[in-house]
Amino acid sequence: MKTIFVMVKCELGKAYAVADEAVTSVEQVSEVYSTSGQYDLLMKVYLPETADIGHFVTEQLQTLPGVKDTFTYRVQGILRRFLFVAGGGPMGEGKAGWVRVAGRGDLAGGEVIGVEAGGRSIAVYDCDGELFATDNICTHAYACLSDGWLDGTTIECPLHAARFDVRTGQVLDPPATEDLKTYPVRLVDDDIEVKLD
Ligand code: FES
Repeated sequence: MKTIFVMVKCELGKAYAVADEAVTSVEQVSEVYSTSGQYDLLMKVYLPETADIGHFVTEQLQTLPGVKDTFTYRVQGILRRFLFVAGGGPMGEGKAGWVRVAGRGDLAGGEVIGVEAGGRSIAVYDCDGELFATDNICTHAYACLSDGWLDGTTIECPLHAARFDVRTGQVLDPPATEDLKTYPVRLVDDDIEVKLD
């Protein structure tokens, strides 16, 4: 998934209406901020990797009533919160499925990071020093929970605000209806390991 930010210039007096319309009718728009200066609004948008940004902006955002102009820029990623594990094979020899996904120092207290291991995208959480791991992709649509907000043992999806208990994977709030898959986690010296199936 890729994240883009779109600055939007609106017709006079239309900024609130455009913001409302974007949030309610364009599924990919997760947040809208009012701004000062040349543009009136800033929209945070999540798109599938294969999506064409230009088409999305011209067809879904520039056509909203009251939009005069847009300026788009793309975010490459939040490196501190998302790690790629080189060679994270699914079943390390003799380790019964345990795979190192991060160093303990990569995950601060109360934070979540996304890792790639064994071909899966996994979110690892530090909840008051206790570690948990779930699938990183929301069960509702395509959003990375590692881009969301961790509050205690609850993770909120950044796209439509579904919430899950990271200890059990259970859905706490809609629009998601399907629980997340969870993974056993352990600390071996300074390594965080996740047990894949
Ligand atoms: S993608 Fe819709 S709630 Fe997560």
